[in-house]
Amino acid sequence: MQPAVIAPSILSADFARLGEEVDAVLAAGADWVHFDVMDNHYVPNLTIGPLVCEALRKHGVTAPIDVHLMIEPVDRIVPDFARAGASLISFHPEASRHVHRTIQLIKGEGCRAGLVLNPATPVDVLDYVLEDLDLVLVMSVNPGFGGQAFIPSALDKLRTVRERIDASGRAVRLEIDGGVKPDNIGAIAAAGADTFVAGSAIFGHSDYADVIARMRRAIVA
Ligand code: DX5
Ligand code: ZN
Repeated sequence: MQPAVIAPSILSADFARLGEEVDAVLAAGADWVHFDVMDNHYVPNLTIGPLVCEALRKHGVTAPIDVHLMIEPVDRIVPDFARAGASLISFHPEASRHVHRTIQLIKGEGCRAGLVLNPATPVDVLDYVLEDLDLVLVMSVNPGFGGQAFIPSALDKLRTVRERIDASGRAVRLEIDGGVKPDNIGAIAAAGADTFVAGSAIFGHSDYADVIARMRRAIVA
């Protein structure tokens, strides 16, 4: 398994001070910045786009920016995010007519590509494309909002996807997103996740370094 990555979701950050918030969470030990893009169409919420990604790069953020697209259609915005400094771009198969094409588009733009499985999306959507992916993102809430409760069936799904990744022999990251907290992250890691998104659990806490350290301790325990 690859080293654990902690990716705070800036959805729960103070948007009026976004640059400082990202600096603070990276200084506190975070590895990636998880960047949630919502369109009020594929999901019932509206957030941020490539301009904000580019602004973070101009602000001096050098850490990987992990763009989670909750938008439909997907393809049109991919080159804009690549130019804006995205490192990874993940999308939902339900939001793309041609999943394989979208993966190739993301990689052709020089980014790593991820596919996102909603709580009710079966893992067989990975058939025929796992060999092209850099990351699989298992949603443990329905996409659209921070602060929701972790859906327990995600643990079984993680175990299944972990087996498939290991059988592929490729270094594909397995990311979990939704309701991740210090008190459940150990079980999530044991189920096979190596990349952990957390929004409210980190930004809702006054001491980012403390909560990130507690998460890391629970991952290795
Ligand atoms: C939900 C987003 C998540 C969200 C997670 O659609 O994809 O990244 O910010 O927030 P928490 O950690 O609060 O569940
Ligand atoms: Zn997300």
